[in-house]
Amino acid sequence: MSATLTDKYPNYSPGLEGVIAGISTISEIDSDRSSLQYRGYDVHDLAEHGSFEETAHLLIYGKLPNASELASFKKTLTDERDVPEAVYTALKALPKTTHPMDMIRTAYSVLAPFDPDYAAPATDDAANVRKAVRIIAKAGTMVANGHRIRQGLEPLKPNPEHGIAENFLYLMSGEQPPAKTIEVMDASLTLYAEHGYNASTFACRVTVATLSDLYSGIVTGIGTLHGPLHGGANEEAMKMILDIGTPDKAQAWIDDALEGKKKIMGFGHREYKKRDSRAIYLTKVAKELGVEKGDTRFGDIADILEKTMEDRKSIYPNVDFPAAYAYYLLGIPIDLYTPIFVIARVSGWSAHALEQLRNNRLIRPKCIYEGAANLPYVPLAQR
Ligand SMILES: CC(C)(COP(=O)(O)OP(=O)(O)OC[C@H]1O[C@@H](n2cnc3c(N)ncnc32)[C@H](O)[C@@H]1OP(=O)(O)O)[C@@H](O)C(=O)NCCC(=O)NCCS
Repeated sequence: MSATLTDKYPNYSPGLEGVIAGISTISEIDSDRSSLQYRGYDVHDLAEHGSFEETAHLLIYGKLPNASELASFKKTLTDERDVPEAVYTALKALPKTTHPMDMIRTAYSVLAPFDPDYAAPATDDAANVRKAVRIIAKAGTMVANGHRIRQGLEPLKPNPEHGIAENFLYLMSGEQPPAKTIEVMDASLTLYAEHGYNASTFACRVTVATLSDLYSGIVTGIGTLHGPLHGGANEEAMKMILDIGTPDKAQAWIDDALEGKKKIMGFGHREYKKRDSRAIYLTKVAKELGVEKGDTRFGDIADILEKTMEDRKSIYPNVDFPAAYAYYLLGIPIDLYTPIFVIARVSGWSAHALEQLRNNRLIRPKCIYEGAANLPYVPLAQR
């Protein structure tokens, strides 16, 4: 964007930066205090003391559940966790090289017509809440079984005893995951659940605001999340860390990268100009995990990158940076990192879709036309 155009159109903000596009009661990002709250609760408290199911309930129903509400919500999630065979048939038909983000996007498309509320009008709030719960319940099953399918393995049945984090880990590996792995996964799902008007959430709201259906909003969200400037950054961050390899190579690597004006994946944020609150908590968790596993090389690489980025650019890690090496230490394949983000963020997308539809207005901004005008039409034979 040239300076002349921004001068000429003072109301134009490239990338909608700083533009207020809605009013929401779902989450609040406070950039100065590096804080993130979901419906008034600090995410650190939710991640440390609660469960992802509590967070999902908070986002969808607007309140933290009491014990009986939580038990009933968990039971519904368990009852809804299975997936129609047609979803697996479709995933089996995809090339084995299909990225798991494309698999989960496809899975939701196939799933939509099987929803018992498929025929309900887009504005039927009660039906949308039921759909949202089904969407949240099935995400982990579809990502994990999609992973099995691309390895030529058969999908596994979810174990009704498992919560969302445990279900995903169990189906992904076919083995009972250790308690610490479940705990870290659960906390990361809470941290990834919701984040205001980020690109994928905004895209989801744009879709449902046309009175298209909730599943289409989710599919839109997944497509938007996939890019490396958004959710795809956690995968790119891990590839970068592995490319660096060992802490003794980190300083030269980052010096080179900055010299070459490279974007450092997992750093920077449109909303946080100081620290990303989620990264503060997850860095602590990821480093503890490294110590526990006797492998502190990623935490050591992270320290060098973080210090250099802070000193030279005043840019800090975002949630995707510690999430990347935490997931790696948990033994999760790199291309499942962004799909894990989906397992969490379907709760935030759904909450936003419900909010949008309860007070809907078509989202339709303007653009400035800067192209040619009033050209005479030249017949094809004369061009
Ligand atoms: C997230 C992101 C897209 C936000 O971008 P933004 O608000 O549009 O900010 P910009 O990309 O315009 O960056 C502003 C400046 O900071 C620099 N910058 C921002 N993030 C950077 C990064 N990760 N590495 C190096 N420089 C970075 C830009 O180069 C730019 O510098 P300049 O003004 O000298 O050109 C950006 O920080 C980024 O691309 N990060 C890497 C991808 C990532 O981790 N995404 C996940 C976000 S949760």
